Amino acid sequence: MSVLITNVGELVTNAPVDAVSVASPGPFAALSDAAIVLDGAKVAWTGPAARAPAADSRVDAAGRAVLPGFVDSHAHLVFAGERGAEFAARMAGRPYSAGGIRSTVAATRAATDDQLRANLTRLATEMLKQGTTTFECKSGYGLTVKDETRSVAIAADITPEVTYLGAHVVPAEFENDAAGYVDLVCGPMLAACAPSARWVDVFCERGAFGADEARAILRAGESAGLQARVHANQLGPGPGVQVAVEAEAASADHCTFLTDADVDALAASGGTVATLLPGVEFSTRQPYPDARRLLSAGVTVAIATDCNPGSCFTSSMPLCMALAVREMRMTTEEALWAATAGGAHALRRTDVGHLGTGARADLIMLDAPSHAYLAYRPGVPQIAGVWRGGEMVAGPAAG
Ligand code: NIG
Ligand code: FE
Repeated sequence: MSVLITNVGELVTNAPVDAVSVASPGPFAALSDAAIVLDGAKVAWTGPAARAPAADSRVDAAGRAVLPGFVDSHAHLVFAGERGAEFAARMAGRPYSAGGIRSTVAATRAATDDQLRANLTRLATEMLKQGTTTFECKSGYGLTVKDETRSVAIAADITPEVTYLGAHVVPAEFENDAAGYVDLVCGPMLAACAPSARWVDVFCERGAFGADEARAILRAGESAGLQARVHANQLGPGPGVQVAVEAEAASADHCTFLTDADVDALAASGGTVATLLPGVEFSTRQPYPDARRLLSAGVTVAIATDCNPGSCFTSSMPLCMALAVREMRMTTEEALWAATAGGAHALRRTDVGHLGTGARADLIMLDAPSHAYLAYRPGVPQIAGVWRGGEMVAGPAAG
């Protein structure tokens, strides 16, 4: 079953024009007065509307923009409870600290599997309606073998991009035995979680895990077949970025406090993406990192939400893009690329983040003529339709 979407005002492909088949996302690229043909779950053709081939059905975009679905490469969605009062206290002047994680850990441990699943499904649906067609999901609010294992298993039912984050913080019961907790994370907890996960992550930060602990955790994860990603340099300068680059991690996330050496290390890395999470700076009143500094140095940059109940409870990629443009000095093209192709790089995915021929047919139709409106009209719902794997899954026609 093929679908022709024609009369597209701006078609962002992130792929070279006229390529017969595209193996991975390219630089930002867009066509005007364009059309796209989906065949089953894949993109079959893109080009000028006037040259579009026939298809089984036809959608008139009426001049609207069509973009690749967002790839949210950093989210913590398996949890129970909420921390609205902590947010309110922050806005009244209290600083963010990693300590709040423990209150979500208590609520998560007390929740049933069904409650965790229902919360995750609600957030995943919320994301899809806002154009996110691929998302990563971390564990990290269980911190016992049983609770981490069920967290990754519940996540794996809904996304292939599951991250084992047993090393989120040291839980209260190991307060005086951090080394014992690291042994658990690298031993029985990892063995139980690895079958449901693709990634291993560590919060490398003062108040969480130090450089040597982080290295040991990433090495253990890799020997269990998981690939590395790192929470790095969120609350202050520190070793996280260097640890991520050394470990050839797919991404170093947050990157809020970077030295020149950190920027150089990312630029020289063989593929460690700097994943910026502007919603966190918004929700914690921290300074925004300067994306221009990274981009000028040649670093690959992704934008993600970090959706979690503590440091940032938004699931909106459009909001994060608008913040990145306004507060991190990205152009609208760079921000859109970072929220699509950048996220795909951060997840080492070649099938999403672009609309080249052969890509997964994951796309967004905006109720606007260009991608720039995502930052130009912040806070306004502008997603007219979402297709995932060639099927319309959100928007007026999907009900
Ligand atoms: O990415 N930094 C560590 N983890 C989350 C915050 C989790 C929380 O506060 O519950 C983050 O910001
Ligand atoms: Fe995070």
